[in-house]
Amino acid sequence: MTENSISGTTSVCAVIGDPIEHTMSPAMHNAAFRETGVDFVYTAFRVSAKELGEAIRGMRALGIKGLNVTIPHKVAVMAFLDELDPLAEKIGAVNTIVNDGGVLTGFNTDASGAMRALAERGIETDGRKIVVLGAGGASRAVSLALADGGGRLTILNRREELDWAEELAARLARFFGSNIPALELTDDNLAGALDGADLLVNTTSVGMVPRAESTPVKASLLHGGLAVLDIVYNPLKTKLLGDAETAGAATVAGIEMLAWQGAIAFEKWTGKPAPNRLMRDEAVRLLEKP
Ligand code: ATR
Repeated sequence: MTENSISGTTSVCAVIGDPIEHTMSPAMHNAAFRETGVDFVYTAFRVSAKELGEAIRGMRALGIKGLNVTIPHKVAVMAFLDELDPLAEKIGAVNTIVNDGGVLTGFNTDASGAMRALAERGIETDGRKIVVLGAGGASRAVSLALADGGGRLTILNRREELDWAEELAARLARFFGSNIPALELTDDNLAGALDGADLLVNTTSVGMVPRAESTPVKASLLHGGLAVLDIVYNPLKTKLLGDAETAGAATVAGIEMLAWQGAIAFEKWTGKPAPNRLMRDEAVRLLEKP
């Protein structure tokens, strides 16, 4: 239980997904609500794919102020909303819904969270050469945001049949008019792509516990001219980030992006600046809990 004082005027927010038991969002958001003194509370609902439409109608009926949306609903939920933020529309996925007097608008704060985490460190994307590893859902959000921010992207993906990467590249080409190379994730292709690159973003799960000793990029390919963002946040410092530091590269940890995606949702629901550091510290506390 949180110490939020809940009354007849309290606004409700929640995360929906399936499964949902391991979400860190309630702890992060309730800590932020307490800290800022807003009259909000945050919980979690397990919603199956077949009940997604009912759940969103329920959001409207109950006046739930905000939802975060996680796996497996980020794409399907768009069909039930009234408005889409332009970046969420380009990405084709939503992770945050704002209920403004019954009008439901979808946003993608995974994408804007990544951009804020980079901006906070003074890492620019406009005109920069950016290498993205992975072509799944996370890549789709981050790649579209980076291209929206003027980045010149190369995407590398493990699978030899590059249908997914090509679909993503086609989506990028449709919105940004540029031809974005989609290559197989091999050492040779990585070496070529990283030569002269400004930013490397890992959107794959490589390096996540319990395989924290693994890394998607050989240390010898990293260099001091790079900034490296790893979306893996468990462990807090992945092998990729450790190797990047050793190579003299600037690093942005996945936990920063996670905290910012929550902080931006908080700002949209409450209209107040989010206590981003506190939300990050709360997520770290949960990850470090035995
Ligand atoms: P998410 O929503 O987190 O992006 P996803 O859509 O399943 O999850 O995508 C996972 C990404 O990580 C994919 O690009 C996947 O590559 P494949 O398309 O080849 O499966 C990548 N990935 C997962 N495990 C990997 C590994 N061991 N090596 C390289 N890439 C890996």
